[in-house]
Amino acid sequence: MNRRSFPGILPFLLVLPACEGPQSAFDPAGVEAARVLSLFWIMLAGAVAIWTVVIGISYYATKASAEGHSEKTGLRLIIWGGCVFPTVVLVGLLFWGLEMMPELRRPGDGPTIAVSGERFWWRIAYGVEGGPGVVRNLPQGGIPSANEIWIPVDQRTEILLSSPDVIHSFWVPPLAGKMDAIPGRVNRLILEPTELGVFNGACAEFCGTAHAQMEFRVVVVSGAEFEAYVQAQARPAKETNSPGLGLFMANGCAACHSVRGTPADGDVGPDLTHLASRRTIAAGLLPTTEENIAAFIASPDHLKPGVEMPAFGVLPDREIARVAEWLGSLE
Ligand code: CUA
Repeated sequence: MNRRSFPGILPFLLVLPACEGPQSAFDPAGVEAARVLSLFWIMLAGAVAIWTVVIGISYYATKASAEGHSEKTGLRLIIWGGCVFPTVVLVGLLFWGLEMMPELRRPGDGPTIAVSGERFWWRIAYGVEGGPGVVRNLPQGGIPSANEIWIPVDQRTEILLSSPDVIHSFWVPPLAGKMDAIPGRVNRLILEPTELGVFNGACAEFCGTAHAQMEFRVVVVSGAEFEAYVQAQARPAKETNSPGLGLFMANGCAACHSVRGTPADGDVGPDLTHLASRRTIAAGLLPTTEENIAAFIASPDHLKPGVEMPAFGVLPDREIARVAEWLGSLE
């Protein structure tokens, strides 16, 4: 490489480290993501080939031959370089892409998990049937959770995607391509992870003010760990006489949130039965700590503009701390 071209590729070299990590499509940890990445490289090679040939012909036609070309040579260049070559490459790429589709849409052999895009978080239900019964556009039944999805490694988990009001897009770059969550219909997406780990997902379709803060985590574990996790999520919250529960009920939190095993049975916001078992609160916004839970209760709109939850900052700090302490104990 000569010295003049080096500064030009410097920005490219600087962003290369960003190609790794838990939210990178260039670091696949699932079957679909790996196929999508190979499709990307093949498409890129095709695009580079067409670009090189077209630019080469342009150079040849205008600069390389000072005395000009005959009409026959010009026609030949246009037909072969401008028509035949791009058509052959593009048709090849089209069939390469189409050939992938049936395999990517093959039904799952693993669990079925319903996911609904809400404003602005992810409603999750484990162990659902893909039937037509719909609660807020989700298939009936299932074990509720939010914003963190556990799936077993080396199994084809079927995600049933929907939304009650606006369109979102469910995207876990290291595991699979994007799929929209559309009101009034259920879209299917297969996740087949090949590596254990925690991966970041995000909403990939502008859906409102807090769109950029609508994240989630996907935790890939062994089949046995997955079964144990779902059983634990199915259990009601541990019995408690915590003053936090009393304050939670007295201040109307139960109008929106459920904590199974207590009188709180709202279904507008996320189910909080096992809130402390999740890595984050507020759809990937903050790590789950008592301090963060308290800060979010006091001023959710400050931390996440556009959130639907009202602020409870008028309550005494002591009461908010009690509620946060109780929620932070719900593992
Ligand atoms: Cu939900 Cu963007």
